[in-house]
Amino acid sequence: MSDDKSIDVVVVGSSIIDLISYTQRQPKPGETIKGSKFCKGFGGKGANQCVMARYMGAECVMVSKLGKDDFGNEYMKNFKDIGMITDYVKQTAEASTATAAITVSEDGQNCIVIVTGACDLISEADLQAAESVIQKSKVMICQLEINVNISLFAMKMAKKHGVKTIFNSAPAECDIDPEFYTVCDIFCANETEAEILTGLNVVSLDDGKKAVTALLDKGCSTVILTFGEHGSLYATAKDRNIVHVPSFPVVPVDTTGAGDAFLGSLAYYVACRPDISILEAIKRSNRVAAITVQYPGTQLSYKKRNELPKELFE
Ligand SMILES: Nc1ncnc2c1ncn2[C@@H]1O[C@H](COP(=O)(O)OP(=O)(O)OP(=O)(O)O)[C@@H](O)[C@H]1O
Ligand SMILES: *[C@@H]1O[C@H](CO)[C@@H](O)[C@H](O)[C@H]1NC(C)=O
Ligand SMILES: *[C@@H]1O[C@H](CO)[C@@H](O)[C@H](O)[C@H]1NC(C)=O
Repeated sequence: MSDDKSIDVVVVGSSIIDLISYTQRQPKPGETIKGSKFCKGFGGKGANQCVMARYMGAECVMVSKLGKDDFGNEYMKNFKDIGMITDYVKQTAEASTATAAITVSEDGQNCIVIVTGACDLISEADLQAAESVIQKSKVMICQLEINVNISLFAMKMAKKHGVKTIFNSAPAECDIDPEFYTVCDIFCANETEAEILTGLNVVSLDDGKKAVTALLDKGCSTVILTFGEHGSLYATAKDRNIVHVPSFPVVPVDTTGAGDAFLGSLAYYVACRPDISILEAIKRSNRVAAITVQYPGTQLSYKKRNELPKELFE
């Protein structure tokens, strides 16, 4: 194990270009309709989380894959502009940069087509190439938006080198390998994922508490369940007391990316602020996430350290 932990946060995950069209209604099959507005954004759960951690002030490494195409070049530039270490963001000619074509209609419905493209090609060899930098990291975050076996492989590698692992079970669509529960130091899910993984109905905070217990029973050492406007639930296997950490009250404008902001912020605190308790870190991360829901967009809604309340860094 190396004690030279000069990198704060390493994220192994997706980088996706969001292509958003705004329309009055969703098109029917075979139909062409006119939209009123278009915008492009940088997304992907992995990248979002890494960007948030970077904005908080963490030294961040992104491990991801883009296409050798215009979107890939743009994304690479975005990462560099933010000051992330991009040596392990590879560009491949074998697939296109991942895209999410999103139609948002006036009735509030979203239709989304995701083509995960280059993200699917993140391989064990890519992680082996990044092992020296992973070894130097304090915290790793993984999600399920890339090949799940690669996420598991990455966390096992992190564990071997004494790197703390935060696993975000998004977007869980079915049961996951039971090893995910035991390999991570912090297991973080939202209500929907908690339902899918535990088979319980998760609507109220009380339901959430039952789901936290069920996740501890699966072998997690620490569980955090994010609960939108209600904030988060937290418990550890040692002390199975479930704590509710209320959210920061705000008027939401666009909640997309709130979960990723929470995770990026949490990773920052775990890596850079060992002096504050995990409960305080969750409380502050709730606040960071609540700030993002007041602005439209995903990464666009994320604030940088100098734009965030000073108390978050005291
Ligand atoms: N309406 C809100 N008001 C205040 N805080 C919020 C609100 N929505 C989300 N948050 C904060 O963001 C955190 C994460 O939100 P949430 O549980 O909705 O994650 P998510 O479902 O993964 O998010 P998304 O998929 O929308 O990115 C919550 O724990 C909370 O602290
Ligand atoms: C993950 O590995 C298992 C076991 O080797 C395999 O069956 C499965 O298809 C792999 N999943 C993916 C997404 O590659
Ligand atoms: C939880 O996250 C998933 C992605 O994993 C998303 O599809 C779902 O809408 C989220 N649930 C809530 C309640 O926000």
